Amino acid sequence: MTSEGSRRRRIALVGTGHRGTGTWGLELLKVYDDRVELVGMCDINPMRLDRAAEVIGRQTPKFTDLATMLATVKPDTLMVCTRDRDHDIHAIMGMEAGCDIIVEKPMATTAEKCARILEAQKRTGRRVDVAFNYRHAPTATRIKQELLAGSIGEVVSVDFHWYLDTIHGADYFRRWHAHREMSGGLFVHKATHHFDLLNWFLASTPREVFARGEQRHYGKQGVQLGERCSTCPGANDCSFYFDLKGDEWLNGLYGEAWQADGYHRDQCVFRPEIDIPDVMSAAILYENGVQVSYSLNTFMPIEGYHLAFNGKKGRIEVRQYERQPWPEPPVDVILKVLNDGTVERIEVPYVKQGHFGGDVKLQGMLLTEGSEDPLHQRADARSGAMSVLCGVAAMESVTSGRAVKLTELEGYPQ
Ligand SMILES: NC(=O)c1ccc[n+]([C@@H]2O[C@H](COP(=O)([O-])OP(=O)(O)OC[C@H]3O[C@@H](n4cnc5c(N)ncnc54)[C@H](O)[C@@H]3O)[C@@H](O)[C@H]2O)c1
Repeated sequence: MTSEGSRRRRIALVGTGHRGTGTWGLELLKVYDDRVELVGMCDINPMRLDRAAEVIGRQTPKFTDLATMLATVKPDTLMVCTRDRDHDIHAIMGMEAGCDIIVEKPMATTAEKCARILEAQKRTGRRVDVAFNYRHAPTATRIKQELLAGSIGEVVSVDFHWYLDTIHGADYFRRWHAHREMSGGLFVHKATHHFDLLNWFLASTPREVFARGEQRHYGKQGVQLGERCSTCPGANDCSFYFDLKGDEWLNGLYGEAWQADGYHRDQCVFRPEIDIPDVMSAAILYENGVQVSYSLNTFMPIEGYHLAFNGKKGRIEVRQYERQPWPEPPVDVILKVLNDGTVERIEVPYVKQGHFGGDVKLQGMLLTEGSEDPLHQRADARSGAMSVLCGVAAMESVTSGRAVKLTELEGYPQ
């Protein structure tokens, strides 16, 4: 019970992998134990489920079947942390069982799946929140305040470039994320964060996308010496060797659990069957006329992003570093330069924890009854859909070589 005597939110978790067990299990309960009660946890892999229960350390009932969990514990909220391809199935099962839903990003991987979630939400009247943590990161919050205040006038274009290094970037290619059918490709799986930020910053929706995407580093671009790092004969000579056993957290969740489902966390990044681009760019036209130039690169020597808003009265830009071969900057600097020559340096303290501090703030907003949302940081199913659709349109454009309107996507939600 909270100090006000209100009931704690009864949450159940489906998908006890790294994200479910870490952010929505261990870390959530560490900070918000007074607001939430974890009433059930479910994973089809019983070995991973056992490990998750062990590290979370509560007496939470465990299930290997979602329908059984929903019928048994009747949660208020279902937290969906399964693989992207299956989010729609699990979110809709939750809604039909009477739960509100918090679904990890991307909300889904296709336009049809987004439409199914929106239809179920309308039919059941349940609430769907998409876990867009970056909206809550302090630097993003500060930029949104500037844009709302209109300090650079009407925004006409945006430059947004996201860089993943060979630690983080390569990791997508070791896992199910490397297969378009599972993740939608990084234009959906990863860029959903970035497209959502753009949609939120600009308070508009994308209309048309022209994109390019290629495989230039991983997959067929390299030489596969083994199936996975832990058994690879070439491990000593590979700069992408990943020591799963050396990572206590990941090894606990994935090291032995492959015996239950055959899934390996350390597959070779040079598997020829990898079918997603690793370098991508897109020109996006918004409904309000804003033009966006976007790119995502997964094999950089640094990690972070560059973002600039070009307005009629001036420009706001930020270069945020997350990992780089020099000391971490203590602050992010947002530079505001106006056409009259005024320059303002806005310093925002750098936050190292989960997604620049966004995870814990997002959880606080979603799980606190009556929390206020003056900057519209809470993302509903419609927002979840719009960022996915931008990524799906981008992939469609990569394949077809032409500009794609979101409304022409098969299954576009009406
Ligand atoms: N918001 C963020 O910044 C952020 C960060 C990391 C991951 N994520 C998202 O979180 C989700 C989970 O990521 P992860 O890295 O933990 O993935 P993961 O594959 O490691 O974990 C998913 C778990 O779901 C389980 N599962 C699969 N099908 C199931 C079913 N039918 N019923 C019950 N369990 C099932 C798997 O066995 C696995 O344990 C993904 O959608 C990912 O995009 C979001």
